[in-house]
Amino acid sequence: MALTPASARDLAKLGHSCLIEAGAGAAAGYRDDDYTAAGVTVVPDAAAVLAQADVLAAVRPPEPGTIAALRAGQTLISFFWPGQNEEALKAAAATGATVIAMDMVPRISRAQKMDALSSMANLAGYRAVIEAANNFGRFFTGQVTAAGKIPPARVLVVGAGVAGLAAIGASVSLGAVTLAFDVRPEVAEQIESMGAEFVYLDFAGEQQDGATTGGYAAPSSPEFREAQLRRFRELAPTVDIVITTALIPGRPAPRLWTADMVAMMRPGSVIVDLAAERGGNCELTIPDEKFVTEGGVTIVGYTDFPSRMAQQASNLYAANIRHMVSDLTPGKDGVIVQNMEDDVIRGATVTHAGAVTWPPPPPRVQAIAVQKREKPKEPTPAEKRAQEVAAFRRETVTQVALLGGGGGLLLLAGLVAPASFMAHFVVFVLACFVGFQVIWNVSHSLHTPLMAVTNAISSIIILGALLQIGSGNWLVIVLAAASVLMAGVNIFGGFLVTRRMLAMFQKS
Ligand SMILES: NC(=O)c1ccc[n+]([C@@H]2O[C@H](COP(=O)([O-])OP(=O)(O)OC[C@H]3O[C@@H](n4cnc5c(N)ncnc54)[C@H](O)[C@@H]3O)[C@@H](O)[C@H]2O)c1
Repeated sequence: MALTPASARDLAKLGHSCLIEAGAGAAAGYRDDDYTAAGVTVVPDAAAVLAQADVLAAVRPPEPGTIAALRAGQTLISFFWPGQNEEALKAAAATGATVIAMDMVPRISRAQKMDALSSMANLAGYRAVIEAANNFGRFFTGQVTAAGKIPPARVLVVGAGVAGLAAIGASVSLGAVTLAFDVRPEVAEQIESMGAEFVYLDFAGEQQDGATTGGYAAPSSPEFREAQLRRFRELAPTVDIVITTALIPGRPAPRLWTADMVAMMRPGSVIVDLAAERGGNCELTIPDEKFVTEGGVTIVGYTDFPSRMAQQASNLYAANIRHMVSDLTPGKDGVIVQNMEDDVIRGATVTHAGAVTWPPPPPRVQAIAVQKREKPKEPTPAEKRAQEVAAFRRETVTQVALLGGGGGLLLLAGLVAPASFMAHFVVFVLACFVGFQVIWNVSHSLHTPLMAVTNAISSIIILGALLQIGSGNWLVIVLAAASVLMAGVNIFGGFLVTRRMLAMFQKS
């Protein structure tokens, strides 16, 4: 569902009123009454929605009948796959309607909240592991029981994009030994940070070969592919579950798990092929089907993983749509503004005002980034020296002024305050000064661990408490003991936090 009761409430805050076709939410677990309670009008059929709505939100690309019913000024937001649906694209443009393709939302940080491809891939990756577990006759996690030792399942994830990383997360959390491979070398660190093991290849060229375009993989060279298949043949007899997610934009899925690898796997093993819709990464995959090979390996080729978690998928997709509508309603006044200067809106709009507007020009943020990357002008050595001298002078003047001012204030205080107060006060002022000087020179990223250390050091309270603990008065003893305990927590906790934080900055 492109609309949930929760997203309808948010859309109402943007000044929109929503309507849905009766019964449309049933498969996702939303009844018409839930929508009515959220202020949504339920109309009898899709034709009524088409006739009444200014903005149509849908999941699947439109059928020819739906396209024919579009009208100028109407906006359709749905998956569209313009590259594979050129006829539909032309037909939609001819109606004068605006079509926003959710699959064309550019992959830039600002657009992440509308990135339906990522939300669905995330679901598919998770669901693939659940599906694998359901078809696998053993535990994922290893166990030691009175009856004997059970080894953990070994899971191989091929392709560590959004779906692959979600699969790795789910598999690791179920306790399986998880291995993962991707042609893009930059994901090795992500894979390892999630607790999985990156599969390296014995390849004479670059360590991995996946030259990338905008975060996507490019087709591998034949030599690289051979090295990859060799490595997979070594792994095949040792893994229980294979989840493949490897895709290259605009091409059929690369064939990576061949029939002989399937034959090498132990009976009871499971292959889940998330690339089934684009032909499959496994040679034997049958799209939309699950079957067991003669060797006892289950191959799952479903292409509707997000639909198998319809409510979760609807919640995420409806939120993506809601964010898109929010960007289309800058005034929050229920007025749709098709701002073609906005990179995200421009990128996703495939037809507008009677014209096909796909493919879009590259997002301008890239152009800005490129401009920014131009090398700044290097100052000459003489200029550099002059800048340094000027900075030193400025700093010295500020320091001297501050010290002079502080000294003057101390003298003034000394005129009126008693001597015992002055001794403490001078120590206090010096402590502030030295503390400030020390902290000022620490890099900002280290301020939190520094705070944790100072927290530990400030537990000098413990000295005071120790002096009091032998006083003989039971109340003082109890209070002092409590102080020791709490200060102890502060000291050990502070150092523990610091250690963990500093570990984040260290490479293993
Ligand atoms: N808004 C954003 O900035 C944003 C959003 C989503 C994704 N991204 C980036 O895009 C990347 C790819 O996203 P995706 O999951 O949609 O990609 P995808 O579905 O096109 O491909 C899945 C994975 O398969 C891998 N692959 C391709 N050929 C392979 C082969 N022969 N062997 C092994 N692996 C192979 C790819 O490298 C990719 O990681 C992400 O990892 C991320 O870095 C960015």
